[in-house]
Amino acid sequence: MNEQLDPEEVEEIMTRIKKESVRIVESYGGIVNQFVGDEILALFGIPTGHEDDPIRAVKAALELHKMVRKISPGIEDRIKKPLTMHTGINSGLIVTKLRDNRNGLYGITGETVNTGARLKSQAGPDNILVSPGTKRLIAPYFETVALEEIRMKGKTEPTIPYRVIGESKIQTRFEAAEQKGFTIYSGRDQELAILRACLKKVVLGKGQFVTVIGEEGMGKSRLHYEFRHMLDREEITVLQGRCQPYGRNIPYFPFIDSLRWGIRLREEDSPAELLEKAVTNIKAIDSSLEQFIPLYLHLLSIQSYYPLPAHLQGKELRKAMEEALAVIITLNTQHQPMVMILEDWHWSDDASQAALKHLIGMTAPYALMVLVTYRPIYQASWGYLSYHTPVVLKSLDVQNTENIIRSITGATHLPQGLGELIYERSGGNPLFIEEICYSLIEEGLVVVKDGKASLTQSLVNLSLPDTVQAIIRTRLDRLDSNSKEALRLASVIGRVFGQRVLERISSAQFELSESLEALKVLEVIQQTRVLPEAEFTFRHVLTQKVVYDTLLLQRRKELHGIIGLAIEELYSERLEEQLPILAYHYIRSDRQEKAIEYALSAGDQAASLYANNEATTYYEQAFTMSKTLPESPKAQQWQIDAALKLASVGITRQDIERDLKNLEQARVLAERLNDELRLARVLYWLGRIHYVLWNPQVAIEHARQSLSIADQLGDEALAAPPVNLMGRVYWQLSDFAQASHMMERSVEQMRRIENKVEESTASALAGYVLAFLGKFDRALVHADHAIHLANEIQNPFAKANAYHLRGCISDQRGEWNQAIQYYKESMRIAEKAEDLFRLYLVKSYNGRAHTMIKNPSHGRVLLEESLALAEQIGTKFWLAWQKTALAACLFNLGELETGSHLCQEAINLGEDTNDRYVIAFAKRTFAEILSCLEPSDFHKADQAILEAIRIQQEIGVKPELARSYVSYTHLLIEKGEEEKALEYLGKAIGMFQKMGMVWDLDQAEQLHRKLGV
Ligand SMILES: Nc1ncnc2c1ncn2[C@@H]1O[C@H](COP(=O)(O)OP(=O)(O)OP(=O)(O)O)[C@@H](O)[C@H]1O
Ligand SMILES: [Mg+2]
Repeated sequence: MNEQLDPEEVEEIMTRIKKESVRIVESYGGIVNQFVGDEILALFGIPTGHEDDPIRAVKAALELHKMVRKISPGIEDRIKKPLTMHTGINSGLIVTKLRDNRNGLYGITGETVNTGARLKSQAGPDNILVSPGTKRLIAPYFETVALEEIRMKGKTEPTIPYRVIGESKIQTRFEAAEQKGFTIYSGRDQELAILRACLKKVVLGKGQFVTVIGEEGMGKSRLHYEFRHMLDREEITVLQGRCQPYGRNIPYFPFIDSLRWGIRLREEDSPAELLEKAVTNIKAIDSSLEQFIPLYLHLLSIQSYYPLPAHLQGKELRKAMEEALAVIITLNTQHQPMVMILEDWHWSDDASQAALKHLIGMTAPYALMVLVTYRPIYQASWGYLSYHTPVVLKSLDVQNTENIIRSITGATHLPQGLGELIYERSGGNPLFIEEICYSLIEEGLVVVKDGKASLTQSLVNLSLPDTVQAIIRTRLDRLDSNSKEALRLASVIGRVFGQRVLERISSAQFELSESLEALKVLEVIQQTRVLPEAEFTFRHVLTQKVVYDTLLLQRRKELHGIIGLAIEELYSERLEEQLPILAYHYIRSDRQEKAIEYALSAGDQAASLYANNEATTYYEQAFTMSKTLPESPKAQQWQIDAALKLASVGITRQDIERDLKNLEQARVLAERLNDELRLARVLYWLGRIHYVLWNPQVAIEHARQSLSIADQLGDEALAAPPVNLMGRVYWQLSDFAQASHMMERSVEQMRRIENKVEESTASALAGYVLAFLGKFDRALVHADHAIHLANEIQNPFAKANAYHLRGCISDQRGEWNQAIQYYKESMRIAEKAEDLFRLYLVKSYNGRAHTMIKNPSHGRVLLEESLALAEQIGTKFWLAWQKTALAACLFNLGELETGSHLCQEAINLGEDTNDRYVIAFAKRTFAEILSCLEPSDFHKADQAILEAIRIQQEIGVKPELARSYVSYTHLLIEKGEEEKALEYLGKAIGMFQKMGMVWDLDQAEQLHRKLGV
């Protein structure tokens, strides 16, 4: 244009275009931020957002292009080519500087703007190009075509631009949902019943006015859709009009909309047809309407020879119009009852509002139902009308949420907790539920197979879809700036926030109470506590999340730090209660050192409540943070401490592997720091892990090193754990004399350092080991002490342990029923405390005891469950014993083959770990099975049992030895060696008598009698 025209002419044309552009952009709620040469840059969503900003932008662009096309012919001759427009549209976050006071413009920068500019330069004449992101947001409402992909500066992936062809048939979100296919309608029976009841009155000629109020997406459109579809259209006329977000400048828009519909005017009708149809159809309603025809035609913008009466102007015209509208609607009800639906009244224009008032004032005597829907932001003032029924749409409940999820995913079965999670995130808003579901499916987080939905990953950090965020942001954008600021600060504190903390962190520039009051009235927050201090809660989590997300990362970090400080100051007396909260804030702040300290303390607190998962999370956070700190003794100490604490709450195989790695690092650090105390602890924990992994020698070695440091330091508390550990390892190595010695020492130690938990467990174990040696009296003293202590401190793990090992003493002594009682109690406690390891052990012992009381089928169930548990935990601990017990049980059930197989496995396993006690048990059982197999292999059986006896003599386990004698007696009888049999039986009887093993004695004596002696 510049080359062909005078500067003044260019100026004049541009001024005209600019003026028109500003008008068009503003009519869609956007702003023209700047003109650069012949370019216009418009922004939508700034300073306040609308949920449909991208749609508004495209609509405005279409109108701008239309405007330029209209101007073009007038200057085409002069510039020798058509005047054309090129548009690029992109959506996303933009970084704005505050509006400049001098020119009222925003300083904008960033990726989003650059992409928009690049699209514009790529656009052909009269083309509107949008980015893929924008295309997704405007998808159902416009027709678009994909163009060839282009490269963007600074991006590796090419981008596909889309050209906008024009608007599609779909105009509202509801129509888009309808096209996609509605979800099952759920949870609105009551509301529909109210509408039906009103309709009943209407049919009887009693006019009704019904309002349906609900937030965006709550289901206003869906409710009247469902209602309309229940109506018999032959019997009832329906008239429908809708307000538009950008229709505010068109007076009477919703009435025009419904009138067009009512008298069946169509877009494609020619002007002549329009006129003809309008006049005929209006007269058909009632001939008396003829006098109003000029008004209707005027309203419908139909050119005609009916002139508007000259006196009708301004206020007069308005009155006349209101009258005309009310008359045509009420007269329509003469033929049959009518329902008139006016939708989205929150966007209505002033003239329509006046007209509606007039109409509802006249409704009572007609068979007319006026149904108006709107969002709560609209402050309605209908006054009192006896025939008015308001219907407020509330949130759906979990059940309805699940119905919608099922309907969208097509699944009949949902994963545990998904319904609750989506319910919580959506606040029970059906639109949000739908959007979250669609995005879960699109992102592949939920997959459905054979009617069963499942999650592909955990949804703890489920983010809200853009669509939902946009709606909420829009809602919040309408708040005043003080309330917005208060909300931002509160969102960092948390879903629940105390007024005192909020006050402490907000700059005193504004009146906080007023803002909180305003937010309460708007139902954004609710007060959940008055005393001892005011406390508020975000009504929806999603509000908090969206507000929080609007804060830049650095700002969030600052605020979390400030909140941490405020809490420390305000609650200095009761810091204990605030530990998790302080850890939460400091972890998210820049104050890493405080974060580590509080994470460790919060972890300790959780661990003391047996909340191992929570404790683990805290300790892991502390560990990671301490590793990222710049190197310093303090940081290294933290790292060691975190590793130690983490090890103390580790349970699973992965935990153990993690701890081994962490502790090896910690050991190097402790040595480097010359930190004896920490080194002793690390060594102990390494020993303990090697014990769990069953490297007994390595375990003992570590424990011994740890103990030697502790002894050097004269630190009893430090010495106690390795002593205890050594006792356990010796026990496992079947060195029961050493084991009982260490355990009894441990009991004393624990008592002196007043660690009752450990005192109880050590006592229990001491008793258990003594029983192996047949020293039942001392064993019982320890075991009863263990139970007593565990009950005193009410520690479930200690309790489960004490009852379990007490049972084992009865077990060794042949008091099976008593043993079972103790096992039962132990299992009950372990189950409740989710102590899987204990459960595995007790179940296998209990299974064994049931086998012994001749209930092997129940024994088998228990033993198989215990085996499954062992696999689940990934432990081999005591597994050889477990397998032998199972073998013996199957043997009792007649499954000899499997039994002998299991015995072999057990022997191998026992030999791997050099567990002599178990090897002997397995060999004896093996011998018993061998002698029953067909054909029986006496030689092999003989070998096995003698090997068992040899081992048992060696390790001094008298009760088991005596039992092996009995077993051998049976074998000898089979072999016909009665004399030798009697000799062994006699030995056994003597031992049983001495140890007070009544059940075994009884069995042995019966056998003795059978032998005819
Ligand atoms: N009770 C319900 N059960 C199942 N789906 C529902 C229910 N209510 C609404 N929906 C669905 O939720 C979506 C949003 O509902 P609708 O469009 O009626 O909300 P609205 O209140 O009209 O929102 P807006 O104020 O934005 O117009 C629709 O797809 C609709 O089908
Ligand atoms: Mg709607």
